[in-house]
Amino acid sequence: MAYRLPRVVGHRGAAASAPENTLAGLRRALQLGVGWVEFDVKLTGDGVPILMHDAVLERTTDGRGAVADTAYAAIRELDAGAWFGPEFAGERVPSFDEAIDLLLSHGLAANVEIKPCPGRERETGTAVARRLAERWPSERPPPLLSSFAEAALEAAREAVPALPRGLLVGAVPEDWRARLERLGCVSLHCSHRHLEPAAVSAVHAAGYPLLVYTVNEAERARTLYSWGVDCICTDRPEAILPIAG
Ligand code: G3P
Ligand code: MG
Repeated sequence: MAYRLPRVVGHRGAAASAPENTLAGLRRALQLGVGWVEFDVKLTGDGVPILMHDAVLERTTDGRGAVADTAYAAIRELDAGAWFGPEFAGERVPSFDEAIDLLLSHGLAANVEIKPCPGRERETGTAVARRLAERWPSERPPPLLSSFAEAALEAAREAVPALPRGLLVGAVPEDWRARLERLGCVSLHCSHRHLEPAAVSAVHAAGYPLLVYTVNEAERARTLYSWGVDCICTDRPEAILPIAG
């Protein structure tokens, strides 16, 4: 049976109304009533999985330099909220462990995007999968892993084969089906920008559900759902939930 995606996933938490990839963002998603969140996980210089989109610290913290060159202890000193708004000052870069704690304590489901720094694809995929295997209770449905980095998905599969995996792409490539099969993925995640209705039908005909990112306008979401898109990843769950059906 096809993997069941939710209708809506909060992108980087709820990135339009709280700083992305922070615990405040995950809490905001909960407040907005979305049952699933997406967030990005990469490794610090000393190998600790944290929530962070960029390979460098500048955009979303008051630090500087490459994440891969910075130890976890130094990253923990940084402010990851003030750039977004003064009410979020003091927000820290969460460890993956802290995010797992929040998911488990609030019954929030997750799409964990493995976002490796260049050259750390396998290491990051392995670390994310192992952490979930150690921490996630077997009686609860596990998070859905995803990545643009196929090497990260391969490593995650080797480490913990039972975790579901989705393949992230920009435009849907010609060979999407072969890639999904080779990687043992359960879902395809693509940008909504170049998507055509025929691609949605083809993906469904092959037995896979489709997640599209990042859609923040209800009108566009309506069109995508009318094509059969299963799941919309959005910075604004409050705009998409009312029309998600
Ligand atoms: O997983 C969907 C989306 O998060 C992929 O793009 O750059 O926002 O991580 P990005
Ligand atoms: Mg992401």
